[in-house]
Amino acid sequence: MTVHDTQRTVLVTGAAGFIGRHLVEHLSSQGRPVIGVDLREAPAWPADAAPVRHIVADLRTTNIRPLLAGVSSVVHLAALPGVRPSWDRFDEYVESNVLATRRLLEAATETGLRRLAIASSSSVYGNQDGAMTEDQPPAPISPYAVTKLAAEHLALAYAARPGSVLTTMALRFFTVYGPRQRPDMLISRIISAIQEGREIRVFGDGSQRRDFVFVKDAVRAVTAALDAPGPSRVCNVGTGEQISVVEIIALISELMGRPATVRAEPHRAGDVVSTRADTTRTARALGFRASVSLRKGLQEHINAARSDPMPVGA
Ligand code: NAD
Ligand code: UGA
Repeated sequence: MTVHDTQRTVLVTGAAGFIGRHLVEHLSSQGRPVIGVDLREAPAWPADAAPVRHIVADLRTTNIRPLLAGVSSVVHLAALPGVRPSWDRFDEYVESNVLATRRLLEAATETGLRRLAIASSSSVYGNQDGAMTEDQPPAPISPYAVTKLAAEHLALAYAARPGSVLTTMALRFFTVYGPRQRPDMLISRIISAIQEGREIRVFGDGSQRRDFVFVKDAVRAVTAALDAPGPSRVCNVGTGEQISVVEIIALISELMGRPATVRAEPHRAGDVVSTRADTTRTARALGFRASVSLRKGLQEHINAARSDPMPVGA
């Protein structure tokens, strides 16, 4: 590895996860040196991508400092991600999402890391009317969202410390979908249920609306955040559009050419009524706008699920 390469090396935590795999594939396809870290083993990386160094480690306990040697930027995706299970497993969420992030930030301070892009979440906004802008006061309504907001604030606080050389880009992802989406998430569940002729469980009346952003767009936003000039920031990563749960079930059924059957279940605590990103700041600061239409992204997700079915989500 040349000195130039070393200066551009990106460490991706959560590299074996849904977004992490896409990010590592994208960075390595650009010839950018990548080190992946995850609790899980490395997935099979595409043969045409540059080789990826993958380290199996637990950020709650491992010595993080050596992982940062020669690393110029970190994308911190590792976390426990689901909204609804977070009521019963709060200790685990705090350990994985807050305490592990603090350990990473301590190591980053010791090694003089310059750039951190951290995965935050639209869930930090809670129930707000209209498009969500980064300046609105966050009002999380789930334990998960509380931990994501804590991690985001911690990463900004470390960057703002006197003498710190760190710039933090806190990326508030809206609901991300695409090939290999986590099996506990709505779109994966709709596709696998339709494929297998099973019922789709709808939490509440299905009128809740989400800003769904395609994973390859989300990855482009992360890449832009690694190179963007300027100070630490919070940036939304969404499309600015939204669709309800009932409507997206109908759309996926149409695209798959097969009927969908639904079963109503009670509303789940912590589920917000509506998300929609205000995309103005991200467009200005990162030069990023989502470009993949929902139809096109869903078609890619469906095609991938047909060739490589995911396990059914819990
Ligand atoms: P994921 O569960 O697929 O990936 C997370 C990865 O982190 C997993 O592979 C897991 O093994 C790893 N991990 C967890 N704890 C770890 C630890 N202590 N040490 C090392 N590795 C650990 O989740 P995802 O959907 O890819 O989400 C990635 C990030 O984006 C998370 O921080 C999540 O909160 C955030 N986010 C995701 C979405 C979404 O729609 N998927 C939306 C908003 C925010
Ligand atoms: C997703 C991710 O899981 C979180 O990690 C992330 O932080 C969050 O997006 C975000 O936008 O910040 P969520 O919006 O709950 O959370 O994503 P899905 O699991 O895809 O659920 C979308 C909607 O479908 C929710 O209203 C949910 O209640 C509903 N749903 C989900 C169902 O009706 N049935 C299901 O089987 C699953």
